[in-house]
Amino acid sequence: MKKRKILVTGGMGYIGSHTVVELQNAGCDVVIVDDLSNSNAAVIDGIEKITGIRPMFYKEDCLNKSGLEMIFEAEEGIDGIIHFAAKKAVNESVQKPLYYYRNNIMSLINLLELMAQFGVKNLVFSSSCTVYGQPDHLPVTETAPVKTATSPYGNTKQICEEIIRDTSAADANLNAILLRYFNPIGAHPSALIGELPNGVPMNLVPFITQTAAGIRPELKVFGNDYNTPDGSCIRDYINVVDLAKAHVVALDRMISGKNKQKVECFNIGTGRGLSVLELVETFQRVNGVPLPYKIVGRREGDIEQIWADPAYANDELGWKAQETTDDTLRSAWKWQMHLAENQKKEAES
Ligand code: NAD
Ligand code: WQD
Repeated sequence: MKKRKILVTGGMGYIGSHTVVELQNAGCDVVIVDDLSNSNAAVIDGIEKITGIRPMFYKEDCLNKSGLEMIFEAEEGIDGIIHFAAKKAVNESVQKPLYYYRNNIMSLINLLELMAQFGVKNLVFSSSCTVYGQPDHLPVTETAPVKTATSPYGNTKQICEEIIRDTSAADANLNAILLRYFNPIGAHPSALIGELPNGVPMNLVPFITQTAAGIRPELKVFGNDYNTPDGSCIRDYINVVDLAKAHVVALDRMISGKNKQKVECFNIGTGRGLSVLELVETFQRVNGVPLPYKIVGRREGDIEQIWADPAYANDELGWKAQETTDDTLRSAWKWQMHLAENQKKEAES
């Protein structure tokens, strides 16, 4: 039987690299397109070490349509595409809105046009729980209204979702699954791939691991005066390998014709809300490392609490988050130690 061929844009990035591993584990041929603007060429070595297979890799910017077209020509018979390639830093998007709108929206448009040109029918799109803002009801379901975006980054996700819906409505061949990720954390249990934050991390878990490793003096916990049991914000932290597996089942659903609508949307979260202080406590307990932290004022733009109702993904996709928070935070720490070892080796050589 012919192996499924999956094109993965942004496949060298954090979530993309974990998904490439799961696709290869599921027997797919993977073609990665990434411009390495927020990732490292060595990521492919980690993928190869884990799976024994080196995926095809094209260093290309999705904004370069003719370059992308050559890849579609060279890689005939693509069964599906996962589109991760995007800029994702909320603060940076406020400073450079046009850069974000161009990168995130034009990349998608180029891809959709080439999908139509080359008869590629199935798309999985990386969306985000950010589209819900602060939901009126918790846990949040996929039917909750999309709230006005609070950043250009968030707005690109909303606009991209709409572009996909409109394009699929006009094109009988195009199926899409929008996966709304909650907060992805952790790393592959092998510690051969993980998150590579650029500069000072904005996200909680990389900041925690860098603080525990002594790279940052202390974690600032943004606010303990929220209307939550311990006063800190609540999120739904999803293990990145669990998240990666959701992409494999989403693609399978479309390729095997089991999708019920041309465009479907799923929450990808655990269904559990965890506060910042609970996460900090769990990290210290499971890894046996101290984490200096202090409570500071609220961070502008933060929502108070959100966690997923993943029932629709559980029932329809047959996907469910499996990993415990304890194991996920162990994997995050193992990855940080791996990065430190690599840096030490580089400094010595
Ligand atoms: P990442 O930055 O690690 O990965 C994105 C990859 O895309 C990088 O390797 C980067 O080099 C590449 N890329 C960016 N623009 C490109 C372009 N124009 N052409 C080719 N390659 C390009 O980010 P991630 O955390 O893995 O996120 C992947 C996707 O998931 C993004 O679309 C992001 O918006 C979305 N998402 C992420 C989170 C999160 O918290 N990490 C949450 C929700 C949604
Ligand atoms: C989590 C919690 C902070 C850092 C962002 C994007 C969102 C999505 C995921 C892509 C919050 C607190 C954090 C720190 C802290 N990305 N915190 N000290 O804000 O939920 O979501 O990433 O789509 O769009 O906005 O994630 O990891 O930044 O913060 O106290 O140094 O940790 O206040 O409550 P967030 P995060």
